[in-house]
Amino acid sequence: MADRFQAPRGTADLLPADAAARARVEATARELLERAGYGCIETPVFEDTELFARGVGASTDIVRKEMFTFEDKGGRSITLRPEATASIARAYLEHGMQKLPQPVKLWWYGPLFRHERPQAGRFRQFTQLDVEAIGSDSPLVDAELILLCDELLRILEVPELVLRIGSLGSPETRAAYRPELVAYLRDHETELARDVRDRIDENPLRAFDSKDESTQAVMAEAPTMLDRLDGEDAEHFTAVRRLLDQAGLTYEVDGTMVRGLDYYTRTVFEFHSGRLGPEVALAGGGRYDRLIELLGGPSTPANGWAAGIERILLAIGATAEERPHDVFVAAEDSQRERALALVTQLRRAGLRTDLDLAGRGMKGQMRQADRVGASHTLILDPDGSIQLRDMRSGEQRVVQAERVVEELITR
Ligand code: HAM
Repeated sequence: MADRFQAPRGTADLLPADAAARARVEATARELLERAGYGCIETPVFEDTELFARGVGASTDIVRKEMFTFEDKGGRSITLRPEATASIARAYLEHGMQKLPQPVKLWWYGPLFRHERPQAGRFRQFTQLDVEAIGSDSPLVDAELILLCDELLRILEVPELVLRIGSLGSPETRAAYRPELVAYLRDHETELARDVRDRIDENPLRAFDSKDESTQAVMAEAPTMLDRLDGEDAEHFTAVRRLLDQAGLTYEVDGTMVRGLDYYTRTVFEFHSGRLGPEVALAGGGRYDRLIELLGGPSTPANGWAAGIERILLAIGATAEERPHDVFVAAEDSQRERALALVTQLRRAGLRTDLDLAGRGMKGQMRQADRVGASHTLILDPDGSIQLRDMRSGEQRVVQAERVVEELITR
């Protein structure tokens, strides 16, 4: 026998029973975000590789190791999107959205691709809800975005929610802080993990992200960007904190948060759930005031976040559920054509209705009605009469064909 195929490593099929929980997350997000003035945007699944190399940063893990990149038939390098922000920034520029009233508020939902080592909550194809507000540097935007993310995770009843916030300042303050951090890392070189050591000059901030224990011990004592913020950056961070305080949000200030993408400036934040542990963020984001310019646009402040849908579902422990049917139509062989017409009529009236499509006998059809959880079954007899059976009480009686729909709706 030929080998059977399996879904590629790090990917998973979404089966109908699990689709309901996922659809609920998307519907909840849509409702919440549209009420807050965010419009839906969709972008292509692949983009020019250069967009991510430049936007996300050539020294990030995403660009160095995790992109699904290939050449198309025209010899162009294209990449399956590993994140949405660069694509949305591109679309903002391509469609001249800087001419719209600012900030432009957008939300996005879709699959992303990162060639990571698969493990619990880490996939090679996963789904994000991404939210962006482009065109304002007001701390109000930072606070609105964080509050919306918090609100979403609360409505979805994510347990043991923890919010961490920090600030990365501006590229200039970061440039001034960098030699200090590099010198500190050089002093502790022997205690650092190999990949951190190799990137001391290229990307020293990444050291804060290391999973290596000895590196983490070194980084716990390292000077942080948060202590070096200049006047305006510090003011901005204080203003964001004040707004969150006023909204009654609790959070931890974390000077070691660097995030895995290079475009961030000023505010950064992550939401975790105690259920999944501190290594696995449910959502993360922050300001990226230089990205639009980096992609060839005018200087445009912006901010956003993304939440991992699979991780949210893991944290809330969403269980598979199949929605039962309202009606099952069982028919003698001579009545099958009529059955399909009746099913169509009932579905049109809004009832979840099914019929036998496997040539089962009458007994088999009644068993199938039970299996799909139908609360009522219509039985089409050979003489053309219709019986209505209440599957819970077992009560059964003849109903008139022209009254069937009305009868079932009132029930
Ligand atoms: P990110 O932190 O790379 O940020 O991803 C955001 C969320 O996507 C994570 O917190 C996690 O829930 C989920 N996620 C990431 N990688 C995986 C994976 N391999 N498997 C499952 N879930 C995953 C961004 O992508 C930024 N674009 C967010 C942003 C928007 N910043 C500003 N605007």
